[in-house]
Formats: sequence, C-alpha cells, structure tokens
Amino acid sequence: MTTFGLRAQNNELEKKVNDLVSKMTLEEKVSLCSGRDDWSSQPIERLDIPWIWMADGPHGLRRAPATNKAGYGDQHPATCFPTASALSASWDVDLIYKVGQALGEECQALGVNVLLGPGVNIKRSVLGGRNFEYFSEDPVLSGELGAAYINGVQSQGVGTSLKHFTANNVETMRMFMNSDVDMRTLHEIYLTPFEIAVKKAQPWTVMACYNRVQGVYGTQSPYLLTRILKEEWGFEGIVVSDWFAVIDRVEALKAGMHIEMPHVSNVNDEIVLKAVQDGDLDEAILDKLVKEIVMVVLKAKSLDREGVDQKVDEHHQFAREVHGQAITLLKNDNAVLPISDDKYKKIAVIGQFASDPRYQGNGSSEVKPTQLDNVLDIIKAEYGKGVKVKYAQGYNLKDDDDYTMIDEAVKLAQESDIALVFAGLPLHYESEGIDRKHIDMPAAHNKLMAEVAKVQANTVAVLTNGSAVAMPWINEVPAVVETWLGGQAGAGAVADVLFGAVNPSGKLAETFPVKLADTPASFNFPGEQGNVIYGERIFVGYRYYDEKQIEPLFPFGHGLSYTSFEYSDIRVSAKKVTDKDVLEVRVKVANTGAVAGKEIVQLYISDAESTLQRPEKELKRFVKVELQPGETKELSFELSGRDYSYYDAKRDMWIAESGDFTVMVAASSRDIRLKETIELESTQQVPLMADKYTFAKELWDNPDARELLKEYMPNWIKGWTPEGKSMDEANIPGFFMEHPMIKFPYITHNEITHEEVDELIERCKSITYTPGYKTFKEVENVSF
Ligand code: BGC
Repeated sequence: MTTFGLRAQNNELEKKVNDLVSKMTLEEKVSLCSGRDDWSSQPIERLDIPWIWMADGPHGLRRAPATNKAGYGDQHPATCFPTASALSASWDVDLIYKVGQALGEECQALGVNVLLGPGVNIKRSVLGGRNFEYFSEDPVLSGELGAAYINGVQSQGVGTSLKHFTANNVETMRMFMNSDVDMRTLHEIYLTPFEIAVKKAQPWTVMACYNRVQGVYGTQSPYLLTRILKEEWGFEGIVVSDWFAVIDRVEALKAGMHIEMPHVSNVNDEIVLKAVQDGDLDEAILDKLVKEIVMVVLKAKSLDREGVDQKVDEHHQFAREVHGQAITLLKNDNAVLPISDDKYKKIAVIGQFASDPRYQGNGSSEVKPTQLDNVLDIIKAEYGKGVKVKYAQGYNLKDDDDYTMIDEAVKLAQESDIALVFAGLPLHYESEGIDRKHIDMPAAHNKLMAEVAKVQANTVAVLTNGSAVAMPWINEVPAVVETWLGGQAGAGAVADVLFGAVNPSGKLAETFPVKLADTPASFNFPGEQGNVIYGERIFVGYRYYDEKQIEPLFPFGHGLSYTSFEYSDIRVSAKKVTDKDVLEVRVKVANTGAVAGKEIVQLYISDAESTLQRPEKELKRFVKVELQPGETKELSFELSGRDYSYYDAKRDMWIAESGDFTVMVAASSRDIRLKETIELESTQQVPLMADKYTFAKELWDNPDARELLKEYMPNWIKGWTPEGKSMDEANIPGFFMEHPMIKFPYITHNEITHEEVDELIERCKSITYTPGYKTFKEVENVSF
C-alpha cells in the first residue's frame, strides 16, 4: 500500500469535496472546524460526511472504549512498543517504518483513522518532561525517524499527527509558555525535524502546539501554519489543535488551523458564525479549510478496513525484536558482558524493576498493554539453565527513602559471580505536563548501585529511564546497559542483550551529561513568568558540548557492541562541488570482531569559516549496517546544498557559503574515524539588503557596494590609502568599518550627507552577491 498523498491523483475526490462544500450551510461548515467529542471529528449526516477517530499515540494505541470517553485506564489493550527515546536509539529508519506499519495495523483493527504521533520536538533540555516521547536533540535524526514512522503508519491507510508544532520543549506552564526563540534557531533546530517529516512523509495531520512561539500561540500563527507549513513545505493535510490548545478560534482559522480538538462547547462555533456574519472572517477562508478537512475525512474513510478481521495481539514478539535494536551498551570494561555460563554460574538479579518493569511514560501516551513481561521471569525461563539465578528487591518503588533492602542485595551480590542491578527512574519521575527538577535517579537506587559495586567487581548497571540520568557511581561499575523504556516486551530484549543472544546496537540520540549544570539550557529552563529564552540558540545538544569543550558523561551517538568495527577508505566523488551538485561520500566499515553486529555510522559536516557562527559539527546523514564477523561493506552517503547551509534570518533564506567544509564519518559525535575536506563553490546569489544599519564593513566586503562607497566617499577612503596603492588596498581601520551607514555623515565630517546615505541605500538595494566568508583586513596599531 502506498503512502497517502492528498493532492496526488485526487481529482475525483477534489470534485466531490467541492460539490459537498457548496451544499453546506454556514453552520455546517463552522461545525466541521471542531471535534464532535473527545476523539472524533464532526460528521454531517445530511451530506453523508462521516466522522473519523483520532487516538494517541505515539508508541502504541490508546483507544478509549468510545470516542466520548477520556480513555485513561479503561482503554482497549494494544501493543506497547518502546517509547520514542528508545526507538531513536536504534537509529534504524527501516525498523521504525515497520513499527509504524504495526501501529497502523492495530489502528485498523480498532477502528482508529488517525494516530496522534509522532512527536518530533527537540530535546532542548535534559529536564523536559516529555523527553521520553521524543526522538532526539538533533533535528536531522528526529526528522528522519519521524518521517519513517509516518510512512509506516500511513502505509496502512491510517493517518498520523505530527506533533507538537513547534518549539514545544517544556512542560512547565505548557498551555501558555512563550518560546522566546530567535528566527535562525527556530529554523535550524526546531522547524527542521517537522520540515523533513512533512516533505518526506506528508502526515495527514499536524498538531499545533499549546505554547506560544515568539509571542503567538502555535494554534494562531499564520507564519507557522500558513507561510511555513503550507506555502514553503507544501503540507497537504490539515492542522488539528493540541487538546484544549485553542484560545481564539477565529484567529486560529485565519492562521490556517483546521480543527479545534476536542469538542468543548458550542461557544466557539457561535463566535465563528458571528465573525463570518460580521465580515471579520472571510467565508472563503472557512471554505478552503473545510474542503481540506473533508478531503482528509473522506480519504481516511475510504481506506478504513472496517470489518476485516484484524488482531492487535500479534506484535508482542516484534516489540521485543524492536527493543533489542534500541538497547544501548554504554560501558563494557573487560568484556563483563555478555553473560555466558562458562563465565558466570551464580547470577544476582537486583532491583525491583527486574520484577516490576517500568516500560513507558506517564500521560496521554500511556498504552494499556496486551501483555507485560518482566526480566526476572524471562531470565529464569529462557536463560536459567546451567546457572543459578537469585533475586533481591534492592529498593522500594513506593518509597524513595526506603534503604532497608540494600544490605540483603549486597549480600546476594557478594555470593554471586555477577550482579545485574536494575535501577532508573520510577514512573512519576517522567511525565507529560511536568518537567524534571534534576537528573538524578532516586538516592536509594544510586546507593544500591554503589554498595553492590563495592563487593562485586562484575556489577552491571541496567538502567530503565526515558531520558538521561546522572551516574555518580560510573567509575565503580564496569558495565552500563541503557535499556530506555522498552515497552511491554522490552524485558525479553534486555535478557537477550545481557546473555548475548542479541548483540547491542543502539547509540545515544541524546547527550548524557555529567551534571545538570553542564547542559545547554541550564540557565534558561523551564523559563520564568511564562517566557522561556532559548539562550543557547543553535547550540543544542552536542553542538553545545562541542562549543564549550565540555566532556559529557556519554556523548551523542555513542554506543558499544560485543564486536568491533573498523572504518577505512573514505572517498568523495569530487573535491570541489557547487551547492547544486550531489556529492557522494563513500566509506568502508568492517566487522573486526568475532560475532555479527550492527554499526550506526554517522556523517557530520563542519564549515571551516562562516559569516555566521556555526556549530563545530552537525549531523547530516546516518545509517545502520549489519556485518558478519570479518565482513566489510562500503557505504554511500549523498550530500547537497541544504546540507552545507545555515539559515540567514535577515535574508529569510538558507545560505550555502563558498569555502571549505570537512566531511566527518564517525562512530559517535566524539569519535570521528575519518575526514575529508571539500571546497564548495556557491551558485547562490543573495541580496545585500542594505539599510541604514548596514555596516561599512559589509559594503567594503562586497565588490559592487565597495565601488559605490568609493564613489560617495573618495576622500575618506583615500585618507587610509598608502602612497602608490589603489583605493582597494586602503588600510581602513576596523573601528571605522564597524559604523553603520546612518553614521557615515558623522564619521566623514559630512563628506557624505544624510541625503546621500539614503541614495546609497537605494542604489545598494539591487546588489546581490555570491555568499562566502570574507575577512576584512584592518590596520594594526592605528594612531589618531
Ligand atoms: C497531548 C497530546 C495528545 C493529546 C490527546 C495532549 O495533552 O499534548 O500529545 O495527543 O493530549 O490526548
């Protein structure tokens, strides 16, 4: 089945929709712009327009018994897959596509037409309450995984809702918080994942966020919903509000938001009706939105496989396999893992999570699983032959301050050959609607780990958490396995990895810091008085740790395997390219160990010199590759214009500057294996955009503008020109070059007048140039 395309080959549907809308009363049109109840769209029976069912999302289906029931606790059982922070650690687009397919099948089985996910918001702060529901701190990784998820779900004739659009990165005051983010950062970091997902997968719906962005509610932003989403990215679907996010429905409709969810009362319908009647809202705007709504509804219904016998309980084993690809081996000194019966006869399983699993997060994404495994039972049943497995609870999930069980656990560890300590974050530590206050695990978990490590050299920390945690005992334990929130079948995958049936292949999609104070947003999170300043700008995640030269606990992209990989033979298809060319980068990766394994190969780009400040490196491509022992594969990546670009907020465009770029092939953001430098020759022409605040330096650096300057200020420039040299060789002091045009009459003692400045600005307006880094050469030791 192909992905849903609204515009493609839909002439018939379009005709039908136009006809239907022309027959609607104004009241009917208005009614379609809100939900019918908690989970469904508004039908119009008179015209045979059906309703569709929307349900959470993202890592499983949370379908209430009926569309008018909240569905917390009483929802229909469905497969609970690993949450997004686990899925992303797989870095596996094909796998996530398959997860999407499975979710789509379950939606079909339970009559759901639109699944409310994926969430591609950036993990700006390690404290973000919904980090477990989001993919990554990196925009490209988030966007690519989001696109794969959408394509998978939609391949089953079920829509998705790409959420929460956008700059929704904090839970504190989430209905109101203003994301005070500059335009460049907004584009490069917070819009890019949505852009990739929209362009590559065309979700049927996008969910507008609760928060404000640059002072405007996400549900009411013409810039975000119309200019960016529809006009620039070509989004074909409809925008639904996050639940209860709409403040002013008239403004929302004008901005391009289609459906207010859920149905609250008829008050907003009446307000919209009156706005149309009073001429405040053009009916043509309403007509356009309504047509787009009906398109989605009819398309969804036409793909609804109602009546076909479908089951939701067939994906448990698949969910286990998925989690096996996500588990991330962070440390494995002296090859403590994997466990084999020739190495260890007596195994201590310690920690309540082993018997009472934490497998998902709190909030709207909470799935009622079809079944639930625990790792203690699985280890005993599947790996217990030939070894003795004993369990100690270690801590009390109901009481963080209960330290009474540590002694018993220490004793067990002492008597065993290896101790597996299951610890992490209890459910109430990670929740939609609440940000974390710190990155610590409960003190009892940390103490347990440290005490066990004192008596058992083979202590393995097996962590369960949806987002990064501090590890104060890191130097005391030889091995750390990050298992994330693994979903209902995750326990099996954990056992598979510990015992080597599955070779771990996950890598971090988010940086693990040593301490909270090291993190990029630590000064500006969660915000104050309803405003959160995105003060770290584009330096989010690893971009920040690079810039500040801070050593993280574990860097972005890090993850170990039971085998080893060697990178060689980097080759680029050309040493000099334009932004219009496709550059091919090839590299060989070999499995140099004794077991089969999968490696996640990352490609970063670095701009040697840039007009605007840039991160040291930015992820552009990645691939997960499976290799048998001794096997080598050659991988190929393609790069082109946008990959070299930054977003220029003044010019409102992406710019790829001429100059040198380093292409880095890496095993993690801090483990660069191979590099190659290429020269980019930009073919872009960008406007100079001179105004009275343009600096002399900007004009001098531009050949055309320089000629004009020479025309208007001959004496001034001559004054800085050494004997016998041309004016182009003038040694103009940087001090003067830092003056904006508005100051020219003053610094030149009116050699150039205010009128001439205006004229110069006008003449500069038509100037365009090829972007490239320029260094203005200034005089050293100027004496006045
Ligand atoms: C959440 C969304 C969710 C919606 C419906 C909201 O509170 O932010 O992610 O899809 O509720 O449950």
